[in-house]
Amino acid sequence: MESRGQWGTRAGFVLAAVGSAIGLGNIWRFPAVAYENGGGAFFIPYLIALLTAGIPILIMEFTLGHKYQGSAPLTFRRMNKKLEWLGWWQIFIAFVISTYYAVIVAWAISYAVFSFNLAWGSDTESFLFKNYLKAAPAGEVGSLVPGVLIPLVLVWAVALFFLVRGIKKGIEIANRIFIPLLVVVFLIIVIRAVTLDGASLGLQAFFEPDWSRIFKGEVWVAAYGQIFFSLSIAFAIMITYASYLPRKSDIVNNAFITGLSNSGFELLAGIGVFAALGFMASVSGVPVKEVVAGGIGLAFVVFPQIINEFPIWNGFFGLLFFLSLVLAGITSLISILETYISGVSDKFGISRKKSVFIGGGLAAIVSLLFATNGGINFLDAVDYFINQFGIAFVGLVEVIIIAWFLRKLTDLKEHANAISDMRVGTWWNICLGIITPLILGYMLFDLFKTNLLKQFKTETGTGNYGGYSDSFILYSGWSVVIGVIVLGIIVSLTKWNRSTLDQHREDE
Ligand code: ALA
Repeated sequence: MESRGQWGTRAGFVLAAVGSAIGLGNIWRFPAVAYENGGGAFFIPYLIALLTAGIPILIMEFTLGHKYQGSAPLTFRRMNKKLEWLGWWQIFIAFVISTYYAVIVAWAISYAVFSFNLAWGSDTESFLFKNYLKAAPAGEVGSLVPGVLIPLVLVWAVALFFLVRGIKKGIEIANRIFIPLLVVVFLIIVIRAVTLDGASLGLQAFFEPDWSRIFKGEVWVAAYGQIFFSLSIAFAIMITYASYLPRKSDIVNNAFITGLSNSGFELLAGIGVFAALGFMASVSGVPVKEVVAGGIGLAFVVFPQIINEFPIWNGFFGLLFFLSLVLAGITSLISILETYISGVSDKFGISRKKSVFIGGGLAAIVSLLFATNGGINFLDAVDYFINQFGIAFVGLVEVIIIAWFLRKLTDLKEHANAISDMRVGTWWNICLGIITPLILGYMLFDLFKTNLLKQFKTETGTGNYGGYSDSFILYSGWSVVIGVIVLGIIVSLTKWNRSTLDQHREDE
């Protein structure tokens, strides 16, 4: 039995946690989510979500990993014999996310290469969907698209290379290289963006509060959803990473550093992206709202347009932007993969190498679906459902079980306080025991209602998310959400390798 890996230094752990948190969610998702949900006014729900759920759950997950020393299933099982399924449920969510997350990083690699000669041309939208993704209508699979497949193989090779090398020599080193590089690259882009003509128009649009939106349930849903995905909480990552901490570790401080760095980066991304959008709007002579797009559209359609308009060094700035997506994405991808590499190795008592091979290999194969002609539609639906119903739902279940069924909050708080400089107080119990369950509970109720009653305003009139047909939503959305729970329960019923279950910390 291999001994459990450990971080080499405190900075190594913090960099890895920050590297996991800062990802596509910060650059690809946050700016548009903030804009669509009230601009400046969105910061209020966002900050409340960060302080009442984000950081408190992060402290809880760091404590769980540190105290029980295991992957998510092992941690939950050590806490209570009947809880292992909760860990596997989170791991299967991570598995699903990793399969399409890798594909978006692959697109970013392609676009970094396209930057050299601005290969996307002037019609960036049709370039993305027709020339690059060779997209087929929703529901069709088609065949593998070589332009996506080649960078995808590279993404898997890089991620698995670092993972095979272990915690200290692999994950820690990857983050030590990629995160400082990301910060430098991103700062260059943001400084350039805010000095472009028209940048202030974009910033005004971004920060101008639309107070009427703040009372809308959907805005709160968006804020909590963003915090969960962005902070990498409730899908096994932070529990796994904290399980490699040495006994003497300042949990509370580390959680604050991670949470605040992630939000700081998110804000920086918002500023950079909107300054660039302001520039684009002023060049095209239209209001900012006409050039804003969310998700894929923002990074892969609007950004290439902005790069086209840059006064000088277009290709260089294009390269920097897509490089920043690749760097942010790869460090998060590594953390997502580590959840099941660690879980499989704990449960079946196999070596790290074998579980990287099995877990990573399986995920790489499944990810091929998203590299097909129909991949973009599957990606869009799976991303929506697994985030909204997967992460938010499992987060609610985790908090309710720990706070109300097991009544473990005080116990965990004492564990964290015993080793941390900064102590958590009763506010933590109130956030996790009362505020978060109430808001998350309401949020899920609202989400189920919107989806089940098909209340989306869509072009096709189906009322479903994205205007997709009922059957497509059923097998690309609901079946994935339910599938991860069922698989989680099934795996939790299989037999444990005794040596892992009984293993104790070496340093005790
Ligand atoms: N936390 C990661 C992100 O923001 C998953 O992309």
